[in-house]
Amino acid sequence: MQSTLWWQAGILYEIYPRSFQDSNGDGIGDLRGIAERLDYLADLGIKGVWIAPFYPSPMADFGYDISNYSNVDPIFGTLADFDALLAAIHTRGLKLILDFVPNHTSDQHPWFLESRSSLTSPKRDWYLWRDPAPDGGPPNNWVSNFGGSGWTKDGSQYYYHSFLRQQPDLNWRNPEVRKAMFDVLRFWLDRGVDGFRVDVMWMMIKDSQFRDNPINPASTPETSASARYLALYNTNRPEVHEIVTQMRAVLDSFGDRLLIGELYLPFEQLVTYYGVGLKGAQLPFNFHLMQSAWNAQAIAEIITNYEADLPAGAWPNWVVGNHDQPRIASRVGTGLARIAAMLLLTLRGTPTMYYGEEIGMTDVPIPVNEVQDPAEKNEPGKGQGRDPERTPMQWNSGPGAGFTTGKPWLRLSASFDEVNVATLTHQKDSILNLYRELIQLRNENAALNSGRIEGVTALDTVLRYERVDDLGRFLIVLNFAGTPVSVAMPSRAAVLSTHLDQPGDSNLRPYEGRIFQL
Ligand code: NOJ
Repeated sequence: MQSTLWWQAGILYEIYPRSFQDSNGDGIGDLRGIAERLDYLADLGIKGVWIAPFYPSPMADFGYDISNYSNVDPIFGTLADFDALLAAIHTRGLKLILDFVPNHTSDQHPWFLESRSSLTSPKRDWYLWRDPAPDGGPPNNWVSNFGGSGWTKDGSQYYYHSFLRQQPDLNWRNPEVRKAMFDVLRFWLDRGVDGFRVDVMWMMIKDSQFRDNPINPASTPETSASARYLALYNTNRPEVHEIVTQMRAVLDSFGDRLLIGELYLPFEQLVTYYGVGLKGAQLPFNFHLMQSAWNAQAIAEIITNYEADLPAGAWPNWVVGNHDQPRIASRVGTGLARIAAMLLLTLRGTPTMYYGEEIGMTDVPIPVNEVQDPAEKNEPGKGQGRDPERTPMQWNSGPGAGFTTGKPWLRLSASFDEVNVATLTHQKDSILNLYRELIQLRNENAALNSGRIEGVTALDTVLRYERVDDLGRFLIVLNFAGTPVSVAMPSRAAVLSTHLDQPGDSNLRPYEGRIFQL
């Protein structure tokens, strides 16, 4: 099948707006800053920009607690800045994906203020209010993903929040909630956005009987609160699919738009989010590479299982990093980060990059007194904190790494003077230039994006597969070991190696990957 749609052929790039580019010296990135960097993104060769939330917010969860869905927080700019950014994106032939957060609002959203104001408020049923248990405690055992009970008492009742108590969950069984939220989609679609990434898509609707979750038998005292239970009744409920289909219908009524779902689920459940007749999300995010052991066998298994579980006609996608997970270069090391780049950009399906991956950015250790992320503050030392992967983009070796003229909201990497766009651009064999070459190769060869994937095999430390269409055939060979390995390879030169500065020979070097055109 030849892919023709932009979100199939193109590469997506996630921007965490606080950390991409500051234009006004307050130490926090903003929309004008993103606009200043569009030429960089266009040159890199990506197609779609996904911007994490920039809407008015008390910032309890850095923008994932929204108090007005249809505006821009002054920290990030204005609606006029947004319109200018969108126009500039489109001028360059790029697409814009917004973050849509339907599961919860801020506790400062006017809807919640009204809802909590009285038991008989017309908006009472817009959120999940329940009477206390007979002992006066929370209505059931559902826990927050950020630790502690998911229920907070407010007056005589409790309200449920999958995340912070400042993020009350909406009641998606209420038709007025659906209408109001679909109107939010229309507000941005009318302005011309090209799609949405839907936050915690699988959590949107809960068990109508609010049944207790079973204990997770695999949990230990060290596991985070939310991992102590199996989230059977508060996530991935069958009724969620109707909502996804309705969202998709709203997008389809605007033509060629893209619906992406944030979904941390096993493959057999993940693929149900493509929907009946593929009328659900076009790209249910596949996060399995972020959670897998990083060796040839484990990854071959992931590719094979995923491909086998995809419904007919469903388009795959791959992600190696986002603003909630340790950066790939820290998780697997800088050697394997190059292999990750080659893997991500040669697999079948849309790749999504996370800003800074292309320069090999690593997690930045954040001292306790500088921690910003509520997930870390609520459960210190459990590895829940996400500040390390959210530090400012490293543009150059000047003051503020070219990110800001002020004091960055999160400290910069100690190595930004070496690891930055300007410096790496001039190093022929840098990871940045590897990304550029990989992206160019993928963009120029349909076999590498829309072609079939064949012959996925893992032998010792080496993963190999082919990408094939009517016009071409590519072989990809990746060595996951830090030692050289001798493998059968075509005698001709590779079209690309992870080790750009080294001529190929018949051995794969430590952490070397090669792409051959057959
Ligand atoms: C998932 C987002 O990616 C994460 O950053 C956020 O904290 C939660 N959803 C709550 O919105």
